[in-house]
Amino acid sequence: MDSVEPSGLQPGEGAPGCPQKGLLQPSDSSELVQECLQRFKVTRTQLQHIQASLLDSMEQALTGKASSAPGVQMLPTYVDSTPHGNEQGNFVVLELGASGASLRVLWVTLTGIKGQRVEPKSQEFVIPQEVVLGTGQQLFDFAARCLFEFLDAHSVRNQGLQLGFSFSFPCHQTGLDRSTLISWTKGFRCSGVEGQDVVQLLRDAIQRQGAYNIDVVAVVNDTVGTMMSCEPGVRPCEVGLIVDTGTNACYMEEARHVAVLDEDRGRTCVSVEWGSFSDDGALGPVLTTFDHALDHASLNPGAQRFEKMIGGLYLGELVRLVLAHLAEHRVLFGGYTSSALLSQGSILLEHVAEMEDPSTGAARVHAILQDLGLSPEASDAELVQRVCAAVCSRAAQLCAAALAAILSRLQRSREQQILQVAVATGGRVLEQHPRFYSILQETVKLLASECDVSFIPSVDGGGRGVAMVTAVAARLAAHRRLLEETLAPFRLSREQLAAVQTQMREAMAKGLRREASSLRMLPTYVRATPDGSERGDFLALDLGGTNFRVLLVRVAEGGVRIVNQVYAIPECVAQGSGQQLFDHIVDCIMDFQEKQGLRGQSLPLGFTFSFPCKQLGLDQGILLNWTKGFNASGCEGQDVVYLLREAIKRKQAVELNVVAIVNDTVGTMMSCGYEDPRCEMGLIVGTGTNACYMEELQNVAGVAGDSGHMCINMEWGAFGDDGSLGMLSTCFDVRVDQVSINPGKQRFEKMISGMYLGEIVRHILLHLTSLGVLFQGQQTQRLQTRDIFKTKFLSEIESDSLALRQVRAILEDLGLPLTSDDALIVLEVCQAVSRRAAQLCGAGVAAVVEKIRENRGLEELTVSVGVDGTLYKVHPHFASLVAATVRELAPRCMVTFLQSEDGSGKGAALVTAVACRLAQMAHV
Ligand code: BG6
Ligand code: GLC
Ligand code: GLC
Repeated sequence: MDSVEPSGLQPGEGAPGCPQKGLLQPSDSSELVQECLQRFKVTRTQLQHIQASLLDSMEQALTGKASSAPGVQMLPTYVDSTPHGNEQGNFVVLELGASGASLRVLWVTLTGIKGQRVEPKSQEFVIPQEVVLGTGQQLFDFAARCLFEFLDAHSVRNQGLQLGFSFSFPCHQTGLDRSTLISWTKGFRCSGVEGQDVVQLLRDAIQRQGAYNIDVVAVVNDTVGTMMSCEPGVRPCEVGLIVDTGTNACYMEEARHVAVLDEDRGRTCVSVEWGSFSDDGALGPVLTTFDHALDHASLNPGAQRFEKMIGGLYLGELVRLVLAHLAEHRVLFGGYTSSALLSQGSILLEHVAEMEDPSTGAARVHAILQDLGLSPEASDAELVQRVCAAVCSRAAQLCAAALAAILSRLQRSREQQILQVAVATGGRVLEQHPRFYSILQETVKLLASECDVSFIPSVDGGGRGVAMVTAVAARLAAHRRLLEETLAPFRLSREQLAAVQTQMREAMAKGLRREASSLRMLPTYVRATPDGSERGDFLALDLGGTNFRVLLVRVAEGGVRIVNQVYAIPECVAQGSGQQLFDHIVDCIMDFQEKQGLRGQSLPLGFTFSFPCKQLGLDQGILLNWTKGFNASGCEGQDVVYLLREAIKRKQAVELNVVAIVNDTVGTMMSCGYEDPRCEMGLIVGTGTNACYMEELQNVAGVAGDSGHMCINMEWGAFGDDGSLGMLSTCFDVRVDQVSINPGKQRFEKMISGMYLGEIVRHILLHLTSLGVLFQGQQTQRLQTRDIFKTKFLSEIESDSLALRQVRAILEDLGLPLTSDDALIVLEVCQAVSRRAAQLCGAGVAAVVEKIRENRGLEELTVSVGVDGTLYKVHPHFASLVAATVRELAPRCMVTFLQSEDGSGKGAALVTAVACRLAQMAHV
């Protein structure tokens, strides 16, 4: 293609260098003209070099590892799909920065029906130069005033107006309505805006002006508006190109290639910001002294070098510099200049477009030049036209090289042989400059011959596209509001938590006095924590958590050694008959003894039985009611130790000496107490939740004795069963409760523990789906399945190290295919539910430690809490949230949380050991 007129690509490398003014000694004027025009010629090789270098710069920027050399910026726009065609509603669009120092307001109606268009209303306002170079506040106030003037003039009703903001400068977007200006371009330089969120600045200005209630829903670059204004057609319109005051393009990139997004599926629109491309190697040879002079005198020297060769703001200025140069060398205007010709900005894009048009007669060119105070000679018109053509042709070719780079990028990432794509175009240079447009198209064809490209001029100058994005953003914002409303009842205030603490204190006091209370405050007959002198081998059973375990615990001088084995309790056994359950337990013990070579030995046994029991002594516990999914018949109201002994008898094969029955909270406290004598409270947050602590014996009604202490099993899972938690209970808690095997019971536990949190989340997700906020409103069968959402998923999903894509993978494994937006919502739901659980738990702990402090009449209490339970241990934030709540609500207590490592079976053995030691002492 080595000489394509009128663009005039020349063979060979590089244009001749640009001699300095004054040194130039052309033999005659035509040689000078030739030399001058020659500088604007770009060879095909040079264009290919620019194309390749720009592609390279794009790919580097996508990886987020761009070198320090200023290149393109590849800014995510948070627009993830091209229009569906079903977007609808009325939107206000405010355009700033696309077309010079002007601002446009539009009223766009989207019908939601493909092909059906309503003409938008629009009005243009000129921004005064002192505002363009003034303060940010002046600029945004001006914008707000124009907006209101437009709305007044069109009698728009002031009702929930949704606005799309087309802001055409390089911005770091972090959402559809969050966008920080990186730097002004194109002659704007308002102070105090760079580094600020322009959406917020506009919102503030709208609020300052006051008259209308407008919600700024989305912010969009003009390239994106242009791409989105394209009617869905035969081929995908996945590129938006602007050549107006400035120049830029956007395109749909594979999301997985955009490193900053951490997204592995779908496509997302990236604004290339190619105006800032300035690779010396590629651009150096085509930059002329005129480009350098223009850059030097601009508001942003050194920046936007590529844009300054293409954008409409600069074409007139380049022409002016060339004409002045030729006049100074007596080649034009008889060697005369005028003050206008020597003044920056006197030749505008419109002048260039008109003069360059071959159909414009010499008379018109003369008239334009005369307006500039010049006295053109007869031959000048033709030369001026050639200068305009040279400057514009180069601009169109450079623009084509950049567009070709995007097409190569698309082709490479789509892995298509022939890429079929539509490019939406916009901007005054393209709209009013037929020659520019045709050179652009021709050159793209040559540089990207493997692509089948169609060019589609944008509708309404992109305003419609901005409205499209606004429609999507408005839908997302509505979803966010629904999400916030849904989660609001889970977000507890300090006052609410303090009220829980107070109610808990009152219920504790009543329970201890044997008055009606949802807290049973059960005496455990454990009066002391271990003193370290306990010795011997013990058996322990641990029933009621995730695992059923049999343990051999050796308490010796050097410490405690444990051998244990986990056995399954099938659901049919847990919910079958009591006889079946206890027979199964004894079978497991026999198996364990067999394996450990313990047959025939009658070791003392401690039984961790993690259900509410009314104890009459250390080895007698009447099961009050089952909790946590157990429901074996014939057990409630029975002594559990008796049931175990009966099962042993039935088997006749073992001899067991059941010494103590212990709740898991007590086992945990004892186990931690062996290491830390300050441990006077036990806490479980696992399948269920509960706490125990050392109470003054004198406060415990129904147990003889006035001095010393006794460990109280609070059974706080039942807190609120008298209706006192009603205010905090959400409709989701009610649903979870209603379908549980013990409706109305364990209301506090059902808001906190592992057995229920996943179910609460599942019910919220179902609700959000029914509102259309999740899964595009499609109810999935999987999500209807009870217990499908395990609490361990909350722990996994909320893990800080997990990327959103991994969250999605977890949910996809569950059979819930979702988008990134969905994944984010699920994450927020999990966070709200687990946070409330941890805070309620913290309020409970605060009530207990404060009670211990007051019991002892201390100003300050230092105490340790032994904790166990899968949720507490595995969840990434649960423990710290509990601790933070306790610090807040019980500031006079220094509470240390100790995680129990060996489960409460060890504690049961220690209770047994203490009992044996005391029994021996009594014997002696
Ligand atoms: C364990 C105890 O350490 O913690 C169990 O040994 C107890 O008896 C459990 O019930 C609580 O946690 P989870 O998560 O297993 O219910
Ligand atoms: C400038 C801006 C860019 C805009 C382009 C076209 O290059 O930085 O954001 O898209 O002009 O208006
Ligand atoms: C349930 C039981 C309680 C136990 C707790 C933790 O709330 O009723 O006894 O301590 O779960 O496992």
